[in-house]
Amino acid sequence: MNCRIEKIRENEKKSHTKIYSDEELYNTDSWLKKPIKTITEIAPLFSDKNHLRVLDLGCGVGRNSIYIAEQFEHIHCSIDCVDILEIAIDKLKNNARIYGVEDIIKGTIGTIEHFTIPKNAYDFIICVSALEHVENKEAFLSKLQDIRDGIKLNGIVCLVINSEVKELNLDTMEKLEPQFEVNLPTKAIQSYINDIFVGWHIMKNTVSFQEYDIPRDSLISHLSTNVITYVGQKV
Ligand SMILES: C[S@@+](CC[C@H](N)C(=O)[O-])C[C@H]1O[C@@H](n2cnc3c(N)ncnc32)[C@H](O)[C@@H]1O
Repeated sequence: MNCRIEKIRENEKKSHTKIYSDEELYNTDSWLKKPIKTITEIAPLFSDKNHLRVLDLGCGVGRNSIYIAEQFEHIHCSIDCVDILEIAIDKLKNNARIYGVEDIIKGTIGTIEHFTIPKNAYDFIICVSALEHVENKEAFLSKLQDIRDGIKLNGIVCLVINSEVKELNLDTMEKLEPQFEVNLPTKAIQSYINDIFVGWHIMKNTVSFQEYDIPRDSLISHLSTNVITYVGQKV
């Protein structure tokens, strides 16, 4: 792993460790307040299922997975959750206990790029604000293909990916190195997704410009990003 990636991962570890230690899932004003809207919109589409197998790549403390588990606790549901941070998986397991879904949630500490996705295995694969944190563009493209191959017929993929991220020192407006391992142009990611998921039913394909201030070491970074949301169904 090169120096740039090591540095980004160190910074990301610091900032995620802080938020995962300080904030309580669903009981906070931070982004851990609730699952993302797209997940709450997709979940009802599985309501006729007796079995549901889900994969959450870069799951964090379970913002989306705990919600899905609660919706499907009455059927045979299992959710494989992967995150690089031990604290994320510890908190995920604790949250699963708090919400009574510990039999559904299976947490693994590891990287997205090294997690082997079995073929034709999942009804639903989600990766929210995490795929851009794999080591490089090759791993990014290869994992998109693995995600595609891991989905069963009629299964659904939900990807939320930051693109064209820019960071500025809020005080001085000087450019900072964006803390994202893979920071690709929006159009390039959309084109890769179109090619890799060719023939799939596109349920959502949007780009939303977002900007916010985040602490980075001793300064505040003003971050802007085009957030790509892709939801596709294998038909
Ligand atoms: C912005 S958070 C999003 C968490 C979760 N998907 C959510 O929506 O609440 C990104 C998560 O991805 C994890 N992560 C970053 N790089 C990763 C990698 N290469 N492999 C696995 N997890 C990673 C981080 O530890 C963090 O928990």
